[in-house]
Amino acid sequence: MAQQGTSDVLDRSPRAAQQDASATPVPQPDKAPAVAPDGGASLLAWAARMREASPVWRDASGNTHLFRHEDVQRVLADPGTFSSDTVGRLSGGARKAPRGTLLLLDPPLHGKMRRLVSRAFTPGLIADLEPWIAELTGHLLDALETDRFDLVDTFANPLPVTVIARMLGVPTADREQFQGWADQLLNTDPEDPESVRRLEETAATIAAYLQTFIDERRARPREDLLGTLVAAELDGERLTDEDITSFATLLLMAGHITTAVLLGNVLLCLDEEPELFARVRADRSLVPAVIEETLRLRPPFTRIERVTTGETVVGDTTIAENTLVHLWLLSANRDERVFDDPAAFRPHRSNARQAAFGHGIHYCIGAPLARLEGRIALNALLDRFTSIRVDRDAPLAYHGTNVFGARHLPLRVERA
Ligand code: HEM
Repeated sequence: MAQQGTSDVLDRSPRAAQQDASATPVPQPDKAPAVAPDGGASLLAWAARMREASPVWRDASGNTHLFRHEDVQRVLADPGTFSSDTVGRLSGGARKAPRGTLLLLDPPLHGKMRRLVSRAFTPGLIADLEPWIAELTGHLLDALETDRFDLVDTFANPLPVTVIARMLGVPTADREQFQGWADQLLNTDPEDPESVRRLEETAATIAAYLQTFIDERRARPREDLLGTLVAAELDGERLTDEDITSFATLLLMAGHITTAVLLGNVLLCLDEEPELFARVRADRSLVPAVIEETLRLRPPFTRIERVTTGETVVGDTTIAENTLVHLWLLSANRDERVFDDPAAFRPHRSNARQAAFGHGIHYCIGAPLARLEGRIALNALLDRFTSIRVDRDAPLAYHGTNVFGARHLPLRVERA
């Protein structure tokens, strides 16, 4: 999950991102087009062509890109050959990912850390959050006084960030600060030293903020996630402050923008399908399938990364040791070999193989929470407003390269 890119106020048409690949001129495959300029149309066209013509592609920097569903799944199922420790391996061991950054850990440490934190993410505990999330959703919608607003700033961002703050046990009133930090982390360009320096500064600021709460838990145990982590032991030893702050920072990053983008993407998809939108309004049992199909068609992360632990072969291509491998989830989810008529929004298709949450040992720990938030949010929006349309007269802004969705999504609503 490398982070990169900025948001741009550009194309207003969400339809752009759903166009058939053949309708858009295909750029030369020297670099992945960014999402921002046209809402993803060029990127999708490029990915479709790469899936066909160069499914295992080496870019000018020597990194490998995989586009087919089968290859992406195979790599994700083989952490021995394809390591998640991009930080350690690509720096030749000079840098080391903190132990709380699950995403960057390999077995056996990954399994031990994941078991500790997954206690807070069991389906039962997540389901228990439902009434509170529904209440929070209601409060956020109550605060919307006009009928034209930016869904992202007013609703889609505050909802998941407040949920994570509450799970951790930090004041939900600090959510704006959290949101600012998450934005800064997400907009890091790993190839720009100044940007990486700012990321490290932000991570240090977050760690200092969390330290007070960790100290409090050490003095007085509590049952929130920070309290659970303070009490947890790994191989007979307590977790360090760095373990805890790095995990909390990961949650903030991984659970915030992704879920916000999912909520925006649901509305972008439904805005394109007025008849379906009306059916969903009338029959709410369709909501979970709509969310799943949105995740397939518009996965919030376009791609994730692995690094090879030795020379290996994918398809008929040999990949050298220590090669960074980009796994295009966006492309895998539109692979015609797996999904019939992949550009069509069909909530009733079988989506068990969609890859938005990854696959294998790193499969998203927050997936049940993201789905729950999506379900509650869509139902609440439908309850509150009799009509919801993307506002074509206001600027719609997309994220940059790695996040597929809107940074600002202007809506126009009608109330009962
Ligand atoms: C729609 C929303 C979300 C999407 C699309 C998403 C996507 C992903 C993906 C693709 C991965 C796997 C990365 C890899 O294999 O390298 C992942 C892992 C992870 N996600 Fe999510 N995520 C979402 C929401 C959340 C939420 C709400 C949380 C927690 C509050 C969360 C926490 C995590 C964590 C901790 C991991 C690392 C798991 C591990 O390495 O074992 N995510 N997510």
